[in-house]
Amino acid sequence: MSRHATQVGIVGAGPAGLLLGHLLHLNGIDSVIVENRSREYVIDRVRAGVLEQGTVDLMQAMGVDAGLQRSGLRHDGLYISFNGRRHRIDLAGLTGGKAITVYGQNEVVRDLIDARVGTGRPLYFDAKDVSVGDLDSTTPSVRFHHDGTDHDLRCDFIAACDGFHGICRPSIPDGVLTIYERLYQFGWLGILAEAPPSSDELVYTLHERGFALFSMRSPTVTRLYLQVPPDEPIEHWSDEAIWNEMLRRMTTRDGWTPNIGRIIQKSVTPMRSFVAAPMRHGRLFLAGDAAHIVPPTGAKGLNLAASDVLVLGRALKAFYERGRADWLDEYSDVCLRRVWKAQRFSWWMTSTLHRSPDETAFDHQRQIADLDYLTSSHAAMTSLAEQYVGLPMEVSFESVGL
Ligand code: FAD
Ligand code: PHB
Repeated sequence: MSRHATQVGIVGAGPAGLLLGHLLHLNGIDSVIVENRSREYVIDRVRAGVLEQGTVDLMQAMGVDAGLQRSGLRHDGLYISFNGRRHRIDLAGLTGGKAITVYGQNEVVRDLIDARVGTGRPLYFDAKDVSVGDLDSTTPSVRFHHDGTDHDLRCDFIAACDGFHGICRPSIPDGVLTIYERLYQFGWLGILAEAPPSSDELVYTLHERGFALFSMRSPTVTRLYLQVPPDEPIEHWSDEAIWNEMLRRMTTRDGWTPNIGRIIQKSVTPMRSFVAAPMRHGRLFLAGDAAHIVPPTGAKGLNLAASDVLVLGRALKAFYERGRADWLDEYSDVCLRRVWKAQRFSWWMTSTLHRSPDETAFDHQRQIADLDYLTSSHAAMTSLAEQYVGLPMEVSFESVGL
């Protein structure tokens, strides 16, 4: 048994865990990151692609934006498509110059792993049997098995950054958390294709046959999504069937259509909205997907992970530098304010752009009217734009020493 100690034990090396580790490092606070998957698995996992303006600014302020500056694609607008027509929403024009940046989550994670390795601070991949305990005490523990050795890591605090299926949230005793959850009757079939994007900006489509989304990863790789039933087996979809359905839903009357190319990755993801509150038990703090899940239509998940980390970073810095515990006590409330607004936005984008099996003709006409209003009203477009580029972070960069 190897016994060691750190200030903050971080479970999970996704965006939340890695960003927190680096923010703590910049403030001279020790951490150990424990991840149960391999480095390759964590980097290769294809997920989010859209970074809010505030997430980009945070990565820049933290000095982990070299890759982002080199290959991130800044988008000043996006398209909403329905009834065969695309309508542009001028994100930058409506928000005083804010934009989103398309940069794959796997690139974000790769850059953050490189930064972590550069600091020389511990990051364990392939940790087995990870567990957390003594959460009510002042020395909670993270236990795990790594490379033939059992580890007992004593911490001042534990950051639960282990995603929705992690072990930290289930380690909180029954009755502590209130769970708010909503499941949807559809999922997304997502593909990566070797095809130059045929639009410079994202296209969100509501078609009679369901939702479709046009996105990208680089000047040569297109990322596309299709609404399908939540439990749809991916084997039911040949590449030809995927392209037929993508083109059918996305092609607009003016002839705009995605470029076709070799499909290099495909998978189906179910969708849910989920919040666990409070985001804290004793000395365990939940951050990112461990505490909340949004359906991907609003592109908010990774960005919420970043805003949680900023709030937690501020609280831990104030605790270590000034002995202040009040920001630790406020952590959950401060995060949840922003989380619920993102939940509302993601639910609205999802329910406005997808077709539900039990919807009525009235519901569908209301969706069309919603989109017609959205794309013709300056006020409605401004509201969408300010939420899509990201509502303000709840705490300042100065409060975390940036
Ligand atoms: P995760 O990325 O899930 O990281 C958790 C880490 O903990 C993982 O590395 C995991 O292996 C590890 N872990 C799990 N269990 C254990 C354990 N027992 N011990 C140790 N480690 C453990 N968000 C956006 O902002 N924009 C988008 O455009 C977007 N698109 C998406 C598209 C899809 C198809 C999907 C599925 C998601 C999308 N998201 C998007 C959501 C985004 O990917 C997540 O919100 C984000 O990954 C959350 O980061 P996290 O660090 O909290 O959790
Ligand atoms: C993506 O590019 O993967 C992406 C873009 C927008 C979303 C979700 C995912 O809403």
